[in-house]
Amino acid sequence: MKHFLSTDDIDSLPEWLKKGRTLAPGSGTPEQPGLGKTLCLLFFNNSLRTRLSTQKAARLLGLEVLVMNFGAEGWNLELEDGTIMDGGAAEHIAEAAAVVGQYADLIGVRAFAGLSDRTLDSAEGILHGFVKYAGVPILNMESATGHPLQALADALTIAETTKKTTPKVVLSWAPHPRALPQAVPNSFVRIMQRMPVDLVITHPKGYGLDANLVGAYEPVYDQKKALDGADYVYVKNWSSVQEYGRVLNRDPGWMMTAEKLGEAQFMHCLPVRRNMVVEDAVLDGPQSLVLKQAANRTLSAQLALTHLLDVQ
Ligand code: CP
Repeated sequence: MKHFLSTDDIDSLPEWLKKGRTLAPGSGTPEQPGLGKTLCLLFFNNSLRTRLSTQKAARLLGLEVLVMNFGAEGWNLELEDGTIMDGGAAEHIAEAAAVVGQYADLIGVRAFAGLSDRTLDSAEGILHGFVKYAGVPILNMESATGHPLQALADALTIAETTKKTTPKVVLSWAPHPRALPQAVPNSFVRIMQRMPVDLVITHPKGYGLDANLVGAYEPVYDQKKALDGADYVYVKNWSSVQEYGRVLNRDPGWMMTAEKLGEAQFMHCLPVRRNMVVEDAVLDGPQSLVLKQAANRTLSAQLALTHLLDVQ
């Protein structure tokens, strides 16, 4: 059974990007391979874009949609096999996933990193628990280590807007008051490695991404140098991998400004903290692509769901 768990589940990225263009609003009535089928979306964490764009995509494909805020309203799940369940978990994921699998033909799961135990987060217990026990295809709506739907929307955005055959794309770390997961930068790097782009990654020392997930790379610690000649600047905060989940740096000098952006186009997955991650002038200016990225989340969900419906 196929799933959509990471950008590696995109067999041919050029084909997906081409197909994405045919799905854009105004491109005609989409096919409805989901008619008579049900998608269940389970949110263990908050969401605006993922929740609404995935529902919209599902409905365009003819799917019925069930949505549950599992984190707030579901039973606490036990993920380990063979445990004596005398703690806080009321239900094992084996039963929970199998039950949902009886109500749905596809299941979307959002389950972020806890950021306290790197090994636990890397194991992706909730996502892989649903893969193991649900018996239906699983859609990753952002897990501990990846956000493939966002990455695909970002790739669609660059493919749609670039005027160059090989644009320079800079992923730039930004300060943030809270510790955030590495899922978005991980998936962005992975998908950019398959695009015809010149990718540069800049972050302070101590913020190196996990080479097991993104491959070995040479970070540029000098943000100004990294931004030189950029066509796209993707700004994102993430917490330290090496000192797992810790905020090591809040230097406002890493915030993106209009001056630093220069002629480049600005990207961010949203939600974003104004004047902490990026200044107002950038977000409100004509070089910001953030709304286009959010719009393309519907297309990326349509592509992923179509893929899962096709392969059942
Ligand atoms: N970019 C993104 O995934 O947004 P939400 O967390 O609001 O779904």
